[in-house]
Amino acid sequence: MNELWSRRCRDLIPYVPGEQPKGRTFIKLNTNENPYPPSPMVIKAIKAAMGESLRLYPDPECTELREAIALALDAKAEQIFVGNGSDEVLSLAFQAFFDPDKPIRFADITYSFYPVFADFYGLTYREIPLDENFALPLEPFLEPGGGVVLANPNAPTGRELDFCDLRSIVEANPDSVVVVDEAYVDFGARSAVELVSRYPNLLVVRTFSKGRSLAGLRVGYAVGNQNLIAALNSVKNSFNSYPVDRLAQAGALGAIRDMDYFRATTTKIINTRACATCHLRKLGFTVCDSSANFLFVCHQNIPGKTLLDGLRQRGILVRWWDKPRISNYLRITVGTDEDMKALCAALKEILDEQI
Ligand SMILES: Cc1ncc(COP(=O)(O)O)c(C=O)c1O
Repeated sequence: MNELWSRRCRDLIPYVPGEQPKGRTFIKLNTNENPYPPSPMVIKAIKAAMGESLRLYPDPECTELREAIALALDAKAEQIFVGNGSDEVLSLAFQAFFDPDKPIRFADITYSFYPVFADFYGLTYREIPLDENFALPLEPFLEPGGGVVLANPNAPTGRELDFCDLRSIVEANPDSVVVVDEAYVDFGARSAVELVSRYPNLLVVRTFSKGRSLAGLRVGYAVGNQNLIAALNSVKNSFNSYPVDRLAQAGALGAIRDMDYFRATTTKIINTRACATCHLRKLGFTVCDSSANFLFVCHQNIPGKTLLDGLRQRGILVRWWDKPRISNYLRITVGTDEDMKALCAALKEILDEQI
């Protein structure tokens, strides 16, 4: 049957998303979704958009949404590009800014979609090893090259990159694009958006999926110099002119306008993260300091896979990778206080069984 596939398709090793369970109910701490519902303003806006106008295509430029995002970020609408989730925005950025003859640099432990995009588009890359504490070594990113992709905070470690280091990387690469993936920036890290007007080679990519509780709506965006935004539009319009549907544009508008709800829910998650970190450390886990809505944890006596399976049996899903350096780690989404209590109780049971 594979003879019917293109050669390119046969060679693909696709990204594997976290499980979305069907049937059984789990405490779902495996895909970094927000445990709180979207703002009531989102639901109101989507209901208002549900009607006769759905027969019409949506605004291909997401004008009103870009204006609202620009207002929220103290940027200009011309500096914003909106896409179907930040995965799509990242994918367009890989096509718009990188060439096969100059390797892109990203960390060896980072969002596992980056090498998938690079392979898909026939690009080359260097995976720069993080140090033993999962910190980013600066030097390899200061050499000029074919572009840089950084997740900040990084995933799956949750570590925030020092702001001065980030700026140094952008300054050291004036002839190539530095993409900063801020999917998790809403949970306390400092954003690079403030640098966009100064550095024409900086593209910041963000999402409504995490901090705004809208993973199901698929809205992401980029903030960058107008020239970079023009390149993204050029690639987008060669692929799909209408990636963000009417309901998604309306819902995202509702979310970006409800700042109070956003602050209240992200603050709750930050507080829950602090408590859960404390509890897990008391149970004997090593927990990386996290600036994201997840924790990266390991236990010196119990393999990560044993913890993963033990939690699943107890109705809790977390994320684990069978990869060198991190196969003993779990990435655990910060849920509600109750979710994290259930998680700690389940982990204690597993520890009592194993030790
Ligand atoms: C680091 C990172 N970037 C981007 C994304 C994509 O988010 P979305 O496509 O939902 O905006 C994720 C999703 O989990 C992520 O972990």
